[in-house]
Amino acid sequence: MRIKSSHTVNSSILAMGNRLRDAMKETGNEYLLLNRGVNSVVNIDLKPIIEQIDFNSNSIQVYPGSNGKYELRKAINEEYFENKADINDIIITGGGISGLDIAVQNIEADEIILPKFFWGSYAQLLNLRQIKYSNYESYEILNNQASELNDKAVIICDPGNPKGDKYPDQKLIELIEKLDNSGATIIFDSPYRRLFYDRTDSFYQKLLALKNVIIVESFSKSLGLSGQRIGFLHTTNKNFNEEALLRITYATNGVNSFSQVLIAKLLSTPEGQKSIAEFKSKTLVDIKKNIEFLKHNNLLATELYEDTDPVGIFTIINKAPEELFNHRIGSVGLDYFVAKPFNGIEKLSRILVSYPHKKFVSFFESLK
Ligand SMILES: Cc1ncc(COP(=O)(O)O)c(C=O)c1O
Repeated sequence: MRIKSSHTVNSSILAMGNRLRDAMKETGNEYLLLNRGVNSVVNIDLKPIIEQIDFNSNSIQVYPGSNGKYELRKAINEEYFENKADINDIIITGGGISGLDIAVQNIEADEIILPKFFWGSYAQLLNLRQIKYSNYESYEILNNQASELNDKAVIICDPGNPKGDKYPDQKLIELIEKLDNSGATIIFDSPYRRLFYDRTDSFYQKLLALKNVIIVESFSKSLGLSGQRIGFLHTTNKNFNEEALLRITYATNGVNSFSQVLIAKLLSTPEGQKSIAEFKSKTLVDIKKNIEFLKHNNLLATELYEDTDPVGIFTIINKAPEELFNHRIGSVGLDYFVAKPFNGIEKLSRILVSYPHKKFVSFFESLK
């Protein structure tokens, strides 16, 4: 049998995960899995929701439809758009990565421009689909170049992965509006954002007026439900939506009904809203404490945060992955998150800061 190449390589995040698992098995010691993008302070409490699901129903047992279950799209419209979106513009996907994959296959763009520091999987996904990409140095430079980007697509991820930094919302909206006006396509992939906000956040509503914006969202990070593999796409471009639905129909014929019902119930019931609020507030307390701890102990890579502050869920620290590994801490070298390595990058690592504070500190004490 002859096999076609995927043109990708395995993710460094997964490679570190395998190494940590082997080390734990061999030594019997605990290692911190700070290589992952998994909120780990607490799990979201699903018990009050599970009790409300009727498993012996068509809702769970039958095809969900290519665009996703109506009840979930309705709940998303309420939660993210204050009911102001057209429900037909919301398409359920198998997580953010699936939404990104559909988006990059669907749009005609000369190239896709990624942030200078970017989730390494963007590059792998674009390699998989054989799409050209480059990088923008900063939001300010992107802003200056906006008028030249009409044939291109830009990915915006805020708060960022790997730096966990946040650009002010007002500036972000102005930048997106300028790009939209110039005819560039904006892929707004910010799955970490909603951990920090609730339904009173009107950011996505502001994007509804723009023609060239594709929102790629996910419940993996904001609700800690990466195992459910659910996200959504939103754009007002009808042609995009028609093509996206066809791609979903012939790739998977929809997305798992059970996870859709689960997330719809979480978003739309008082019990679910309570679980969400508790999950977010507990997670944010420890993220904040961990970042403070890193700052206080001079572990933060301050040169990368000159005009920003990390908010999470990741932070870059000034220790090499190997040194961290020797202290039983998993991390990912910063070189996985840039197109071109720079001097000194080998001494920098991305770590997850969404981790129980006490345990986090107990592992970092020996590194101070
Ligand atoms: C920036 C960014 N976008 C999208 C995703 C996709 O997540 P998922 O496919 O679990 O929704 C991730 C996951 O780590 C991410 O870091």
